[in-house]
Amino acid sequence: QKVELELEAIEKGGFEHFMLKEIFEQPRSIADSMRGRVRADEGHLRLGGLRDYVDRLAASERIVIVGCGTSWHAGLVAEYIFEELARIPVEVEYASEFRYRNPIIQERDIVIAISQSGETADTLAAIELAKSKGATIFGVCNVVGSSIARATHAGAYTHAGPEIGVASTKAFTAQVTVLTLMALTAAHKKGTLSETLFRQLLAEMEHIPALVDQVLQKAEKVKEIAYIFTYAKNFIYLGRGLNFPVALEGALKLKEISYIHAEGYPAAEMKHGPIALIDEDMPVVVIATKDSSYEKVVSNIQEVKARKGRVIAVVTEGDEQIRSMVDFVIEIPKVHDILMPLVSVIPLQLLSYYIAVMRGRNVDQPRNLAKSVTVE
Ligand code: G6P
Repeated sequence: QKVELELEAIEKGGFEHFMLKEIFEQPRSIADSMRGRVRADEGHLRLGGLRDYVDRLAASERIVIVGCGTSWHAGLVAEYIFEELARIPVEVEYASEFRYRNPIIQERDIVIAISQSGETADTLAAIELAKSKGATIFGVCNVVGSSIARATHAGAYTHAGPEIGVASTKAFTAQVTVLTLMALTAAHKKGTLSETLFRQLLAEMEHIPALVDQVLQKAEKVKEIAYIFTYAKNFIYLGRGLNFPVALEGALKLKEISYIHAEGYPAAEMKHGPIALIDEDMPVVVIATKDSSYEKVVSNIQEVKARKGRVIAVVTEGDEQIRSMVDFVIEIPKVHDILMPLVSVIPLQLLSYYIAVMRGRNVDQPRNLAKSVTVE
């Protein structure tokens, strides 16, 4: 009751739903998650909460990331980034699986727990288990002073501000932002990243809020596409590399709030099963940005079109090749591969939001779901 009253007291800021407000807050919440931490012009990057642990992080031989739901997806993004930049092997686990399978954890391991609420029971239990085995635990939490934040040795908060919509949006991009800063910190310390690329990535990160803002300007276009697909019964989301976790997250968003069945897949895995589902009634959302896997994704789109699937492609601005192949395109600005998820996830959040609204769903409080899952 008390929580409900508090929720009601927080303004929707002129938006119809908290979720839409939170989607539109992302330029600010991403900037807030970098504030005081990044100064690209000076080549400065400092995460105060990791101050005493930077050497430990850079020297680590293995990182295990645990989380649930959207936070687990942020972990998958972080896996690619840590391995690419810092060359540290990373494993990402659902906290609920990790805690019950007698995991191999050594004292030199670093465990990163990701949680918006900081109260998820499985994530908290996973931390306690890893701690009992002597690992160093870092937290990436949004709620200050939450149980998970208190249970960790060190960490870096996301500064997304309160997230009310049950479907996580701005917390996800804030998590990815902070995890990217962690990976950059480790890579810089370790020397696996040239000073030039380090500075270039910092500069590009400072520019991300403006790029996210550009994507948000496309909301009306996404709404038109949502209108066309409002009554679809299934959706497939495809992406490769860093856009694979984004595909998972896009599918999860749609399931959560519209109750449409959706699956995210690494694009190349489609031929090992999901391709059997494709026909003219199957919308396929493909994240097909101009990155190192672009040509491969183009082939995957051809495979879908050959089976009459309807393709909505998220592409890099100015991409005429894919435009000529697919049913709908949503253009997003060009950005370094490593930072792509922060931009490419935005149209997928909007798509699920508009579809759910058009279906008359309770977007902010979908059935059967809780914002914070404090029981097993
Ligand atoms: C619930 C929420 C999800 C969230 C997950 C993990 O299922 O509905 O949106 O991603 O818990 O929550 P956490 O607070 O640990 O990030």
